[in-house]
Amino acid sequence: MASCICRGARGSPVSANRLFFFDGLFSLQIADDEKGHDLDLFCVPRHYENDLDKVIIPHGLIMDRTERLARDIIRDMGGHHIVALCVLKGGYKFFADLLDYIKALNQNSDKSVPLTVDFIRVKSYCNDKSTNNVKVIGGDELSNLSGKDIVETGRTMQTLLSLLSECNPKMVKVVSLLVKRTPRSSGYRPDYIGFEVPDAFLVGYALDYNEYFRDLS
Ligand code: IMP
Ligand code: MG
Repeated sequence: MASCICRGARGSPVSANRLFFFDGLFSLQIADDEKGHDLDLFCVPRHYENDLDKVIIPHGLIMDRTERLARDIIRDMGGHHIVALCVLKGGYKFFADLLDYIKALNQNSDKSVPLTVDFIRVKSYCNDKSTNNVKVIGGDELSNLSGKDIVETGRTMQTLLSLLSECNPKMVKVVSLLVKRTPRSSGYRPDYIGFEVPDAFLVGYALDYNEYFRDLS
């Protein structure tokens, strides 16, 4: 189970999931009135049982959507070498699963994309609030594909993109598993989006609250 709504977090929980078309980009919408799934239907670690509200995106759905994102990326990259840059820590699960799907496509189709990886650590959050202070650590090489966990205001990604642009990469594409619908958004949208989610605090699948819940699959 993945991406649970955290108890006491702001925003209203969310009904029908549907594909959404925005500026030429598809994403899967988790509606604002989505009821989610009862925690008792899934295997939640005992130490988190009292801290979670509900399961908003089951793990299987994340995997199925990620598989499709991999297919879209391979289609668009047209054989160019990809330096895949993982934005740690929250992006590590999504990055690993996305790359596994890209590798599977490389192994099993006539068309394949050469791939190298790099990692960068970005920190902008204090408790459950996005701050203006974006810290970036690591990353030796410039990337043309960046794997991100969640975009809320978009500030973290915009800061990272302006740093990357100083090195004149041939192309930069951003893949984010989640984009939050929030009035705090700067309007920034990644090139590939897994899901658009309500304005609530989500944890699990490497997304944390003060470093907790990364161990919630
Ligand atoms: P932004 O700069 O406001 O777009 O914030 C993006 C970063 O804030 C993400 O990379 C996460 O680290 C963190 N973040 C934003 N929303 C959530 C959430 O719902 N759960 C966990 N982390 C979040
Ligand atoms: Mg965090």
